[in-house]
Amino acid sequence: MPSNVIVGLQWGDEGKGKITDFLSKNSDYVIRYQGGNNSGHSIHIENNYFILHLIPSGIVYPNVKCIIGPGMVVDPKFLIKELINLKSMGINVDNIFIAKRSHIIMPYHILLDKYKEEYLGKNFIGTTNKGIGPAYEDKISRIGIRMLDFFYPDIFYKKLKNNIELKNIIFKKIYKKPTISVEIIYKKYMEYAKILSSRIIDAVYEIHIALNKNKRILFEGAQAMLLDIDYGTYPFVTTSSSTTGGVCVGSGIPPVGFDNFFGVIKSYCTRVGNGPFPTEIIKTKLVNYLRNKGNEYGSTTKRPRRCGWLDLVAIKYSCKINGINYLIMTKLDVLNGLNYIKICIKYEIDGLEVNYFTPDIGNNKINCIYKKFKGWNQNICDIKEYENLPINCKKYINFIEEYIGLKIILISIGSERNKNIIKYKHLFYKIFSSEKI
Ligand code: IMO
Ligand code: MG
Repeated sequence: MPSNVIVGLQWGDEGKGKITDFLSKNSDYVIRYQGGNNSGHSIHIENNYFILHLIPSGIVYPNVKCIIGPGMVVDPKFLIKELINLKSMGINVDNIFIAKRSHIIMPYHILLDKYKEEYLGKNFIGTTNKGIGPAYEDKISRIGIRMLDFFYPDIFYKKLKNNIELKNIIFKKIYKKPTISVEIIYKKYMEYAKILSSRIIDAVYEIHIALNKNKRILFEGAQAMLLDIDYGTYPFVTTSSSTTGGVCVGSGIPPVGFDNFFGVIKSYCTRVGNGPFPTEIIKTKLVNYLRNKGNEYGSTTKRPRRCGWLDLVAIKYSCKINGINYLIMTKLDVLNGLNYIKICIKYEIDGLEVNYFTPDIGNNKINCIYKKFKGWNQNICDIKEYENLPINCKKYINFIEEYIGLKIILISIGSERNKNIIKYKHLFYKIFSSEKI
């Protein structure tokens, strides 16, 4: 089963989209298995910028089949817009399929997301307000409506009516907000059903056939390890399993036979929304530098991202939970021109040094213990070979590899598809066994 998995190891926005696109050339399928349109995956090819929220990042290659997997929550209105937008940019969208088992995001989920955040006040999560959490809540409470239900209008109507009756009580009694109408939503959603029905498939069957035929499958993670519902910085997390463990649950395959688990890290760290961020930088000048050079504004919500130094304590933990084989580093070029760069190698919690990522982090003030590196005053964006990187840059990379105990197989040095340095060529070409890349 030639299958590879790509996940983010920080708080999202590591550049997974660019990496997935780069590796898609050698894939037959690209499958997303969790989350929804809370993601924002950017791809830059020549003068075209594609930002994908729901559709897997393999879509720019016309022969790659893209599957919105069973573990996802899908806003059909948003998906239709994304399809139209991609088509208008000249992308072939015929190969995009949606799992019958995926859950539908309804307008009431988006309202509930917003009302809950307002209710939480200063303890807000800082969600993307796309209805992701409430849609997963309904799934778990077994009242969710699935893509499958689009094929059964009577069943769809009944489920919708039951849901809206329940939600209207919550809107009225708890949040003191207006109620919503079943009929209007039913009508709209039946239109969406008509537009999408030819793409809705039994994805599990399709994926198993692909596996039997030895097709090359790339699983694209969204969000990231530290936003995972179980192992992230709870409660400031998303509502799905964004670890490699989530691949099996979210695509209906057994936990055997994967080839490689790639963990994507950005050369520094960012986070959008509320929640602990031990290495967050307070100095505004430095934050502005990273934010502007790295374009650290949410591609889904446009919010400015919080910025910080690389946190190796957190990344080591992420590697363990995800069983990462190889690291991929992105945005190394953003660090060009800094006098110094810091890496967090330990935490100090309550006067004690700690070198692992504990769940107590959310309840304590953390002091980070850093190792300081000299910067490099050179533009590295056009460098093709690892050997030609500035010595200080190589020291930074080598330290990370040693600390984590894994190889950084690929380094991205610009947003464009081909701005990459393959650090271990022999290994890389063995994994992707092709001269195509
Ligand atoms: P990609 O795939 C960064 C964050 C939100 C919020 C928390 C919960 O682009 O890396 P949600 O709407 O999911 O209930 O919000 O998770 N979040 C992300 N942050 N990148 C993402 O996706 C994110 N998806 C959700 O900001 O803090
Ligand atoms: Mg994002």
